[in-house]
Amino acid sequence: MKTIALGVLASGRGSNLQAILDASQAGSLPATVRIVVSDVADAHALERARRHGVEARHVDPKAFPTREAFDRAVMAILGETRVDLVCLAGFMRLLTPAFVAAYRHRIMNIHPALLPAFPGLHVQGKAVDHGVKFAGCTVHFVDEGVDTGPIIIQAAVPVYDDDTAETLSARILRQEHRIYPRAIQLFAEGRLEVQGRRVICRGAARAEGTAALMNP
Ligand code: GRF
Repeated sequence: MKTIALGVLASGRGSNLQAILDASQAGSLPATVRIVVSDVADAHALERARRHGVEARHVDPKAFPTREAFDRAVMAILGETRVDLVCLAGFMRLLTPAFVAAYRHRIMNIHPALLPAFPGLHVQGKAVDHGVKFAGCTVHFVDEGVDTGPIIIQAAVPVYDDDTAETLSARILRQEHRIYPRAIQLFAEGRLEVQGRRVICRGAARAEGTAALMNP
């Protein structure tokens, strides 16, 4: 099977990047991270990339007059590297419409909530405060909105009475590290097809009958 080239954009600690690098290195992912770009000079994600021998670039937003100009610089790097898929992994900037259009259905994002509930920031704490009994994470294709694009994969976790934003975040993060490599794998295998808002996954297994989760 052909291996696809990934470009990962990250602003922070990069644990999702690490999960992707590990899956790729283990040979369980027909995808290779070719470049990591960060808008933050000392993002730990850049360090993780270098440790894996992956090119790591800082692009300073302050060096550009507009968001469009910043995005053009990032797109130029991704273009030179010929990436097939762009993965946002804790990238704290919104992409401009020109970027989204240039990579339509070829940009993924991971979000620590069961979208469309709780888009935006600090969502694990919002889930606890709201009193939901399940939370989780979502990998979706990026469109022009904030966390609104077609959903590829989700994982649900229970929320317990003594949870805090921190304990729930940790439980969700473990699932993020499972579903992001899996979403990339499905893409690389050519099994995803976007039909309007829906992402159809060819050959997906299904659980019938008693598969529902209940909490408490
Ligand atoms: C994750 O919770 C991800 O869902 C959100 O930002 C966080 C990034 O964490 N978009 P990391 O940098 O991958 O560790």
